[in-house]
Amino acid sequence: MGKLAAEELFEDPRIAKAKELLLSAIDEAQKKVTAIKGPDPERVKEYEELLEQFKEARGAPLYYPYIGSGLGNGALVELADGSVKYDLICGIGPHYFGHSHPRLVEAAVHSAISNTIMQGNLQQNVEPLHLMQKLNKASGLDHCFLSTSGAMATENGLKIAFNYKKSATRLIAFERCFMGRTLALSHVTDKPAFRVGLPQTLDVDYIPFFDSKRPNESIEEADRELKKLLARYPGKHAAMAFELVQGEGGIRPGSRPFFAQLMNTLKEHDVPILIDEVQTFGRTSELFAFQHFELQNYVDIVAVGKISLVCATLFSKRVSPSAGLLSQTFTASSSAIEAAIYLIDDLLKGGYFGDQGKNMATFRNIEKRFKELEKRHPGAICGPYGIGAMIAFTPFEGEPQTTVEIAKELFDAGLITFIAGQNPTRIRMLIPVAIISDKDLDTVFGIIDQVIQRKKETLL
Ligand SMILES: Cc1ncc(COP(=O)(O)O)c(C=O)c1O
Repeated sequence: MGKLAAEELFEDPRIAKAKELLLSAIDEAQKKVTAIKGPDPERVKEYEELLEQFKEARGAPLYYPYIGSGLGNGALVELADGSVKYDLICGIGPHYFGHSHPRLVEAAVHSAISNTIMQGNLQQNVEPLHLMQKLNKASGLDHCFLSTSGAMATENGLKIAFNYKKSATRLIAFERCFMGRTLALSHVTDKPAFRVGLPQTLDVDYIPFFDSKRPNESIEEADRELKKLLARYPGKHAAMAFELVQGEGGIRPGSRPFFAQLMNTLKEHDVPILIDEVQTFGRTSELFAFQHFELQNYVDIVAVGKISLVCATLFSKRVSPSAGLLSQTFTASSSAIEAAIYLIDDLLKGGYFGDQGKNMATFRNIEKRFKELEKRHPGAICGPYGIGAMIAFTPFEGEPQTTVEIAKELFDAGLITFIAGQNPTRIRMLIPVAIISDKDLDTVFGIIDQVIQRKKETLL
């Protein structure tokens, strides 16, 4: 068998040399991004103009005055005003491997020389197959449908569930859940502000999420509510959507007994179990949070996104949809697919999982640091909450405006975090575990300490 022209191209020594040169140029540039710094005074005016243009172009201002320069070094990212900051929220999740990671750059370069920028459902190269096979094998599920956003992955999950339960019209979800922002998902996401003026597209019944302060009562309460709903609307629920660690809801983990109890009840009524792993994927003690909570036997449909770069809906044969239900022009960009293959391999082989793996060890490290801060600032810091790479703390009473102000003060001081939840509103971090070091965390916690101290003084 002769070589394909493409095989010859990919093996061309000039390509290997070009990759080597690119990586060494990036490595040199990264040596200039090694610590937090403030903006270059000569760029401040131009940066402000850029921010104004962003506001004009999108019709709303950016949440943070963040415009990246296109270069970073691990957890550090350079902005277009010349400032350098620690990225502890990672684009709300995707950049778990940090900025300008050499292997991801290499993956992007490799895909850049292939024939198309985007892969599609009608015509694709072999890489999407490799990615789907990896996700199927790692999840234990039979099939995988790729897409370009977490919302599309969860929306496809809903379509699979409704297609399976043909007479169903309703969905069950947890209070405070977030599932995305399409017309349908805006009615699942439990936040009225996210659906102002939108027509009712789905009937969703909510049950309370796990309350770690009252674990046993909380299991009984939620199961009682679930059984009431199943009795009130017999056969009418297409699925129950589970977010095993609520992300937007405030970084709230559930527990294995809680989920197992509800899932047993759902199974008795043949209601499919849809797990939204868009935020949890890769961040707990296992690749999938349903594996962390040992729920493998219950799962029918799983949506992944963020860290995976390419979003996907995984599902069992039992609920396979009829032809024509799922399709889109794109599967994902060629570079995202190539990078996702690298990421998943590295996650599975790189010591991230298990109780002693990097995710859980990083959480314990950060937890210890928060406990020290809590002692230094009693009443001003509560937490941390979460699992693995999903971490949050409540500043002061968790009053929304104060928390937003603190997030913005942390940003100005060089830490990019985000908020999550209501009552209380917390500061959230999706830690780039793959590349954050102890030395980085020393700096990060020094800054949190200073910002909280300053805020205490202003609130007195
Ligand atoms: C749990 C969960 N589901 C779905 C989504 C939607 O993903 P995307 O923003 O990529 O559409 C998100 C995004 O934050 C999420 O956290």
